[in-house]
Amino acid sequence: MTASLQGKKILLGVTGGIAAYKAVEVLRLLVTAGAQVQVVMTAAAQQFVTPLTFQALSGETVRTDLFGPGTEPLEHISLGQAVDAIVIAPATANCLAKLAAGIGDDLLTTVILAASRPILVCPAMNVKMYENPVVQENLGKLRQRGFHILEPAAGEMACGAYGSGRLPEPPDIVAAIACLVTPPDLGGRRILVSAGPTHEDLDPVRFLTNRSTGKMGYAVAAVARRRGAEVTLVSGPTALPAPWGVSRYLVRTALEMQAALESLFSQCDVLIMSAAVSDYRPAGLAEQKIKRGEEEMLVKLTHNPDIVAGLGARRQQQQVLVGFAAETQDLLEHATTKLQRKNLDLIVANDVSAPDAGFAVDTNRVTILDRQGGVEVLPLLSKEEVADRILDRVAALLAERRG
Ligand code: C5P
Repeated sequence: MTASLQGKKILLGVTGGIAAYKAVEVLRLLVTAGAQVQVVMTAAAQQFVTPLTFQALSGETVRTDLFGPGTEPLEHISLGQAVDAIVIAPATANCLAKLAAGIGDDLLTTVILAASRPILVCPAMNVKMYENPVVQENLGKLRQRGFHILEPAAGEMACGAYGSGRLPEPPDIVAAIACLVTPPDLGGRRILVSAGPTHEDLDPVRFLTNRSTGKMGYAVAAVARRRGAEVTLVSGPTALPAPWGVSRYLVRTALEMQAALESLFSQCDVLIMSAAVSDYRPAGLAEQKIKRGEEEMLVKLTHNPDIVAGLGARRQQQQVLVGFAAETQDLLEHATTKLQRKNLDLIVANDVSAPDAGFAVDTNRVTILDRQGGVEVLPLLSKEEVADRILDRVAALLAERRG
């Protein structure tokens, strides 16, 4: 899931570590997201990847030098001011030291000295280098001066060592950049999101579930984080990676989802309940795998709790509750009944029988209903755009309640 960066201008600085090869993927994702990217490489970075690779993907001449043929006068000033954000990925220990000391001995470091835009620094190096006190001291200085630092990931490194210092995965870097260029209108808000299906066990190897993939709820979580919220995601089983910057709790069954949401609910300002919770579960769990037997087999089911209705009954008035209604018939009628019965502020109704909306696709066509009888019919949009529209309504309700 890539953020939209349509019309945004990003300067991508690449320094000379082996992780420079991952910067190629960062560039590709930025361009796919609609950004216009100017790449600036240090001399050492060019030992790992050629400027031509970045040039082919960005469609822009890669800048490498302060002086000499092809350089523009005052480029070191203009480059860092003509963009919406700057990212340095990877940032070597040498680069961090130069930034911390205010050294400008090449184009990239000089551009940073003159920059007036948010700067995201993504350190990547061997674990021993990363843990070196001087590197940590330099990072501390940069944080103090308002640089945004993307913590490196832990894992196996190119040199074979194991530990902290790996460059985070390119989609996470792009998500962090998207945060920097998005107005934080949900800053300071705690948003709890549920997503995905539940698995209701029949025996040790079989379960009942539904076609939800979690894409809609994960889009809501990612977009809320991008807009500055502190986001907690309670997710049923899905194949999706946790969105960057979001705390994720993984659950399997409706009862586990209920326990997780009940423990988190009182600390949230907003609950967005997009999980496709199974309404029933098998009445008994067979201890051993059920054997093949008679021609027919009856499975007795029992009601699962209606999680959001339970939370709606004990909500505080200033909390905002949003539910989803996935229907295959009489969409608005059923959605309106659910909005009232579950004590929600908004319900997002979608007709899951349409091929381009609902389960397992990247687009959705929804209608948002509110308690005043308002009906907002949205066109076919990407799930990220739907998430933005839902969060616009949430932001408006939060502002009303505060004011
Ligand atoms: O009644 P229905 O299941 O269609 O309502 C859908 C809404 O209720 C969704 O927001 C869903 O996450 C929530 N729900 C729930 N607990 C259930 C079933 C649905 O919270 N057992």
